[in-house]
Amino acid sequence: MAIQRTFSIIKPDATKRNLTGKIAAKFEEAGLRIVASKRIQMTLAQAQTFYGVHSERPFFGELCEFMISEPIVVQVLEGEDAIAKNREVMGATNPAEAAEGTIRKEFALSIGENSVHGSDAPETAAEEIAFFFSGLELVG
Ligand code: CMP
Repeated sequence: MAIQRTFSIIKPDATKRNLTGKIAAKFEEAGLRIVASKRIQMTLAQAQTFYGVHSERPFFGELCEFMISEPIVVQVLEGEDAIAKNREVMGATNPAEAAEGTIRKEFALSIGENSVHGSDAPETAAEEIAFFFSGLELVG
């Protein structure tokens, strides 16, 4: 498997509890390099666009309100098989189902307040990176 890039969000529940460094350390320990990183606070319109694929889900409103409730840290992670590796490090969406040692097992509060987001495929990784970062911000 080649070197890939994936997109990550450290979510409001985690930034609020000062867990940014601990979560970033999990990525680095897994061999993922943080090649871009910034702390931002999304507008409601940005959250609705970013999570547009979930717009018909019953939790869409709650999800968008949560994602704008506090700052988030958006990052680009790079490494061998980065998309799958990041999903492994994050653990299952629902922390009750997440494996020991994963970010969601250790830090997530609930299925909604689950500390991190990570891209699920190469196409979404490219789209999500471009949504938040310009080429000039991606140093490699
Ligand atoms: P994420 O990887 O950011 O992608 C979509 C998010 O929707 C997901 O993580 C969860 O935080 C959230 N989500 C999924 N299912 C539910 C649910 N049943 N209730 C609330 N939020 C959910």
